[in-house]
Amino acid sequence: MDSILVTGNGPLNGQIPIAGAKNACLALMPATLLSDEPLTLTNAPRLSDIKTMTLLLQSLGAEVSSLQDGKVLAMSSHDLTSHTADYDIVRKMRASNLVLGPMLARLGQAVVSLPGGCAIGARPMDLHIEALAALGAEIELRDGYLHAKAPGGLKGAVHEMRFASVGATENMVMAATLAKGTTVLKNAAREPEIVDLVHCLRAMGAQIAGEGTSTIEIQGVDRLHGATHQVVTDRIELGTYMLVPAICGGEVELLGGRLDLIGAFVEKLDAAGIDVAETDKGLKVSRRNGRVSAVDVTTEPFPGFPTDLQAQMMALLCTAEGTSVLEEKIFENRFMHAPELTRMGARIEVHGGTATVRGVERLKGAPVMATDLRASVSLILAGLAAEGETLVSRVYHLDRGYEHVVQKLEAVGAKIERIKG
Ligand code: UD1
Repeated sequence: MDSILVTGNGPLNGQIPIAGAKNACLALMPATLLSDEPLTLTNAPRLSDIKTMTLLLQSLGAEVSSLQDGKVLAMSSHDLTSHTADYDIVRKMRASNLVLGPMLARLGQAVVSLPGGCAIGARPMDLHIEALAALGAEIELRDGYLHAKAPGGLKGAVHEMRFASVGATENMVMAATLAKGTTVLKNAAREPEIVDLVHCLRAMGAQIAGEGTSTIEIQGVDRLHGATHQVVTDRIELGTYMLVPAICGGEVELLGGRLDLIGAFVEKLDAAGIDVAETDKGLKVSRRNGRVSAVDVTTEPFPGFPTDLQAQMMALLCTAEGTSVLEEKIFENRFMHAPELTRMGARIEVHGGTATVRGVERLKGAPVMATDLRASVSLILAGLAAEGETLVSRVYHLDRGYEHVVQKLEAVGAKIERIKG
């Protein structure tokens, strides 16, 4: 298994291009299942999760070609041959469950294995099931698989989700595009990736209003047609690389960065003493003074502080002046990076969903282990600012969500290399 060796080396300067959003792309790709005409995505990120979704769609009979070095995905679901999303693929990535809604809508049936994915909590499927059942689907769990069918077709309904789940919102919106009549989804998730999905569905002929708010209204249509859609910027990759100058000093411009994608995060950076300025090409980030200040952070659904940036923010706060309290409200087991950061000299106490971080002057390099996608990158960020060498092992998690991480960081002057193992 490959590792990444990082040597802390002071201020970093330059530009980092931000890719298309992994989480948007993973919802956009299954949208191909809704139509028998081609769907093309541009600005796709080059990630192993995208390859996993490609394999899953291909296993259902969709054609997926990766063009222009993986930045363009040309898909067609003209002839679907299967309605079963197999455990072998689904266990690698929870987002595989996003084929459930589209398959049900297009084929009237779907069999989807219960997912695996990051080990950051229980992550059940109850909200997806309730949402699709509201549209008239009959769903039962047998042998680790969800068996869903809608013999008379899906029917529009009013449904209020108990929690604004991102995936359940995406599944229901996709399914409702082909349902008979009107669907009103209340307490919908508002993430930019959902807005992006709706923009794509609209380009395919869907009639949807209210994306980005907590009520989404979908008027079912008989069929969707082909489209070409550009994947929105990855706000999590953006936030992660904004932390590079915040942690190491220097000034880094994030190409393609947009403030509207990342407001709550920028507010916390500002409170910690980090300047963020808009430029023609994106966002420029630099540290105001010598050491950052402690800030308290609570993760929330969008537009709150994203859970997917909590680990990286913790890496920053390890060397802040003062004590920060981080509260994780989305996932119940998402502090697995804390013991690894502690091995680098951080002072962190975790009690349930709360981590208290007492800032130290400087972290020290150490061998550490990546436990999930965002935890891996938080260890790399910590290593960039630590004294000496940090060897991050099990970096396959990283390849799920960060394209060309070594090259992007080398380009701003980091001492980082991938060691084949
Ligand atoms: C998506 C993102 C993930 C991000 C998360 C929260 C993708 C591919 N992944 O995941 O990176 O961390 O949003 O912003 O877009 N839950 C239930 N029952 C359900 C569904 C979810 O209890 O049926 C719970 C989960 O266990 C979790 C919380 O709801 O505690 C949030 O999950 P959800 O918003 O559904 O996240 P995902 O769509 O899985």
